[in-house]
Amino acid sequence: VRFYREAAGSAPLLVVTNREPVVWKGEGVLSLPPGGVSQTIHRLLSRTGGRWIALRDSGGPDGLRVPGEEGDPGYRLDRMDIPPALMEGHYAGFSNGVLWPFFHDEPARISGSQDDLLAYREVNRRVAARVVESLRESRPSLVWVHDYQMALVGREMRRSGGSLPPLAFFWHIPWTAMPSGEIPPRWLFEIVSGLLSYDQVGFQTELYRDRFLETVFSLFGSRASWDGETLSVTTDGGVRRLHPGVFPISIDPDHFRMMARDPANLLRARLFLEDLGLNPETHPGGYLISVDRLDYSKGFLERLDMLEALYSLDPSLAGRVSLLQVAPSTRLSVDAYRRYAEAAEARAEALNRRYSREGWRPVVTVSRSLDPSLLAPLYRLSRGCLVTATRDGMNLVAKEFLASQDGGSSPLFVSRHTGTAMTMEGLSLIDPADPRLSARIIQEGLSMDPREVQRKNLDALAFLREHNVYRWMASNLARPLLAASLASGALAL
Ligand code: G6P
Repeated sequence: VRFYREAAGSAPLLVVTNREPVVWKGEGVLSLPPGGVSQTIHRLLSRTGGRWIALRDSGGPDGLRVPGEEGDPGYRLDRMDIPPALMEGHYAGFSNGVLWPFFHDEPARISGSQDDLLAYREVNRRVAARVVESLRESRPSLVWVHDYQMALVGREMRRSGGSLPPLAFFWHIPWTAMPSGEIPPRWLFEIVSGLLSYDQVGFQTELYRDRFLETVFSLFGSRASWDGETLSVTTDGGVRRLHPGVFPISIDPDHFRMMARDPANLLRARLFLEDLGLNPETHPGGYLISVDRLDYSKGFLERLDMLEALYSLDPSLAGRVSLLQVAPSTRLSVDAYRRYAEAAEARAEALNRRYSREGWRPVVTVSRSLDPSLLAPLYRLSRGCLVTATRDGMNLVAKEFLASQDGGSSPLFVSRHTGTAMTMEGLSLIDPADPRLSARIIQEGLSMDPREVQRKNLDALAFLREHNVYRWMASNLARPLLAASLASGALAL
């Protein structure tokens, strides 16, 4: 935060996302929607100050002043209205019917039409127009655009002409490998060309960045070159130069540690568990916790297969250790999500029918999102955490769990297909593609010497404290901010 304030001087940051960071619940009452991206940026921007442009999702006025905590400045939120039919094509149609399954290696779930692509383009164009208009009111130090729903905003801003501050983009989700021998879909060329409009495009891991470069080379051939820092591509509009960087997103671990230790939060969590029949005092076997939007990429079915394999591997766990899944529904206007939610529910019911005993259930599902101040003590009181995503750009739940454990002795099991597994060492890796092997790893982890687990948790926490979300932001923005300062002569070297 200090770095940002010094580097940016008095010029604020302008952030652009698809989803707005608050849900309006009547006069002045705001709550955070589920989804790591908006929660993370909300935390950052409420400390640095700045402006945020997003699509309006709930009631309330067009412009809001979102307050910061404890003397932090907060930020201004500009909420854009998009007509429902256009929003449907952009969000349910192209963003989550095509881009999401494509980049999460789920080609069979892709469904979208040419109209959806047109809607996506149009929404990106409108957002770009709003950003350009806002530049006239106040010029930010840079514009930071986020995620797959907004890939074309930079291109549309450049088309508007005029001088622009540096444009940075962050791609939060995985980048898929180009299937060799297959003709890439036509729209991919447009998305990739759009990304080339930014001055920097950030990825979560080297693997995703390298795959992006491979995609650029396969689409542009010898018109593209990469010197390890700068990617240059000759396009119809001239030569584009940009920095494709690697910046693994993180959390504020101290925030989660404090929330997990807070006596009032712990009491609330105990009462919550009591209501669910999971009070650790009366159910000493405890619970494994999972927290995900109900999305096929989060491996719900695979997780339930793992649980069943775990019970057959060690029958003494059936009747003792439950799975507590916090699983708010998501994107229900997309068919693939509705079908998946039904399948996941049916699978959980089948498991409950088979294994439930008097006063005990194997699977307890909470179908709404929980406030982080309740989640943190729930992580802390758990027997362990399961992250079973079949593909995930990063996965912040794993990091939140480690921070909330704060040196506790409950293990984390994390899918090797997550950015978290790819960028942190010393984690216990599972593979949703192999539930039986994963069950064995979970069984071993649950019977490990608690001091050993504690040591692993403390090492991971030390890593997170160093690689926290503020550092993520600073490393992301350092290069574009420096370039801007040099260009304006503001920085005397
Ligand atoms: C993922 C995406 C984010 C998105 C979040 C919630 O983390 O990378 O862009 O904000 O899911 O998704 P939603 O569709 O509910 O906004």
